[in-house]
Amino acid sequence: MSQGSGTVEIRGELVRKRYAREELQAEHAKAQALWECARRHEFIAPRPLRVDEAASAIEYERIAGFSALTGPYVREMSTGDLHGRLAAILREVARVLAAIHQDLRLPVTRPWEAPPLLLQGLRRAGDRDGRSATVGPRAVLHGDFGFSNLAVLPSDGPRPRIAVIDPSPNGFTTLRVDLEGPVLVDLALFTSCVEGRIPLRQQPRIRWSALGGLREVFVAAYEGAAGTALDLEALGMLQYATAYAYFSRVYGAGLRREAALALLYNRLKGNRRWWEGRP
Ligand SMILES: Nc1ncnc2c1ncn2[C@@H]1O[C@H](COP(=O)(O)OP(=O)(O)OP(=O)(O)O)[C@@H](O)[C@H]1O
Ligand SMILES: [Mg+2]
Repeated sequence: MSQGSGTVEIRGELVRKRYAREELQAEHAKAQALWECARRHEFIAPRPLRVDEAASAIEYERIAGFSALTGPYVREMSTGDLHGRLAAILREVARVLAAIHQDLRLPVTRPWEAPPLLLQGLRRAGDRDGRSATVGPRAVLHGDFGFSNLAVLPSDGPRPRIAVIDPSPNGFTTLRVDLEGPVLVDLALFTSCVEGRIPLRQQPRIRWSALGGLREVFVAAYEGAAGTALDLEALGMLQYATAYAYFSRVYGAGLRREAALALLYNRLKGNRRWWEGRP
């Protein structure tokens, strides 16, 4: 089987992915570090098998059955069994992200800086000086910890088995591969998905009234696993700013961006808690 998705090709048991030449070594170091972290902490990440310098590509082992977390999320959110399987999945994802933040080791890192669109989004959320992008614990970031890079694999054990791929810049909140920065950057990317940053065509099936405490389930599990309390106001603002930066990149600065934001954050979904009460 050969199936292309931009720079990714799946060939039988191998996945081949091309990278910018200047990032190739750093991408490989991080992929290797993620795989080692996964082995230590009981989750799944693709093993990098070979670097092809000439083609500026890395070959990975293919994770059988990898299918983005968006699928189970939409299924459970449309049936409404939120306190069973989806909550268990979110708790396990939180444990995995805390393990990555505690234990993903890179030979060289550089400090994360908030991209301009993210700062613009923070200003919109009411954070004028971008404080939310500076607070809380710091770690080596995954960099693109969203639904499309996570999967739940079949498991015999009591815990869902989580697979994590693609620890690379996402182009809107992270622009380099080897970043060390606030853990809130990864957390906000994930919680913006939990709160509904999923493809438009899948949104009509969702029962938003069920959103309720899902973000809290995830955040509490992360805090428990990491042994730290998070600044929830900063997380909320960063989450909005993450969606703003994402929609800006996908839609530009026009009406479509505004419509997408309004669809994601509105009172009907109970999705405005963190700025309620503000003028
Ligand atoms: N090791 C792997 N095993 C199985 N499937 C994989 C693997 N790596 C990538 N894929 C599949 O290819 C898709 C794209 O891979 P990846 O996320 O690494 O590339 P990308 O171009 O950065 O994508 P995106 O921009 O959507 O994050 C994944 O969503 C997944 O379906
Ligand atoms: Mg991806």
